Amino acid sequence: MYSLLSYGKMMRDRGRMAAYGEALRQTVKPGSIVVDIGTGTGIFALLACQLGAKQVYAIEPDRAIAVAKEIAQANGYDDRVCFIQENSTQVELPHRADVIVSDLRGVLPFFGAHLPSIIDARERLLAPEGVLIPLRDRVWATIVEAPQLYEQYTSPWDDNPYGLQLQGAKPFVTNTWRKGKITPEQCLLAPQPCLTLDYTCIEDANGTVEFAGTISRSGIAHGICLWFDATLTEKIGFSNAPGQPELIYGQAFFPWKTPITVEPRDRVSIKLQANWVHQDYIWRWHSQIFHQGQSTQLKANFEQSTFWSQPLSSMQLHKQANAFVPSLNPDGKILQTILQLMNEQKSLGEIARHLTAQFPETFPTWQLALRRVGELSQQYSL
Ligand SMILES: C[S@@+](CC[C@H](N)C(=O)[O-])C[C@H]1O[C@@H](n2cnc3c(N)ncnc32)[C@H](O)[C@@H]1O
Repeated sequence: MYSLLSYGKMMRDRGRMAAYGEALRQTVKPGSIVVDIGTGTGIFALLACQLGAKQVYAIEPDRAIAVAKEIAQANGYDDRVCFIQENSTQVELPHRADVIVSDLRGVLPFFGAHLPSIIDARERLLAPEGVLIPLRDRVWATIVEAPQLYEQYTSPWDDNPYGLQLQGAKPFVTNTWRKGKITPEQCLLAPQPCLTLDYTCIEDANGTVEFAGTISRSGIAHGICLWFDATLTEKIGFSNAPGQPELIYGQAFFPWKTPITVEPRDRVSIKLQANWVHQDYIWRWHSQIFHQGQSTQLKANFEQSTFWSQPLSSMQLHKQANAFVPSLNPDGKILQTILQLMNEQKSLGEIARHLTAQFPETFPTWQLALRRVGELSQQYSL
């Protein structure tokens, strides 16, 4: 979920907006039908109206869509934009689109439900000759010397003034990737184009980024850096490569378990996998570093995964096991009561009164109960 400040920041990213604006100019014609997936505060939908689109469907589950509606009205476009507060995968439209525009990525295209949403929209919402913006993204990779980024992972646990052993946290944090700014000078390997996500035909939300190469200079390698370049139309795109003008996406840094001293002619062989599981990505990265010119003598061999980034207690694992028979905790009982009463068509006020009577310790006042019921009504009511 983004704040309005974040939507403002996206709009202020001049490089991104100039590319998207030009891509829309090249594809939206007077009379076009346009679908804007993840409209946020409506910017692509409004640009499409400016370009003469006959009908725009602006789809967004977030409540930011209310702001988009107001802005459309203020610009006199409210008669042409149909705002739909929903996830695109749940939406049926009366017409297929000539253009579907979206930017559902994060630092990488493997973000949230981006890929499943685009695959679904292409199949159900796009006209046979329709155009997708973006057309494709290409993922690039390299090995980096990034002491400052790496230090953020390790130094809180390595150095502390309390004389305590805090290193138990390190195996978890080094299995976490994050956004990080990299310069071309930090690259220890010529950047490699590894994977193209062609949205016109992609079928799989999972992805594998695989590369191998020879280290170009001596240094201390701290991990892997990935970024993407976008092709919005055949003639317009942008790059997040280190050294390019900075865009909102940036680069992704995948740390290694430990830093590795590397020499020219050392070889690396890397495989990263993004697996779409339970509405999110689990990343695995397997890194092998070989001594100069040799393909058998390993300097390092790391298996890492975001799966190991969160401590899971044996109780948590037990609760997810096939044979576990759950019984509801107090929160679960409250949720069950509220949903049951909603299903019986009771008003929010009635449900709140019921809660204060049945769970007086949790809801000492009717107002408190009403707030909780209201939140769930936002989430679950039609
Ligand atoms: C990165 S923001 C982009 C906002 C705006 N289009 C822009 O470019 O400034 C992505 C938006 O897409 C929304 N979103 C993500 N998946 C979606 C889907 N399947 N259907 C509709 N909206 C989606 C998110 O809630 C978020 O508001």
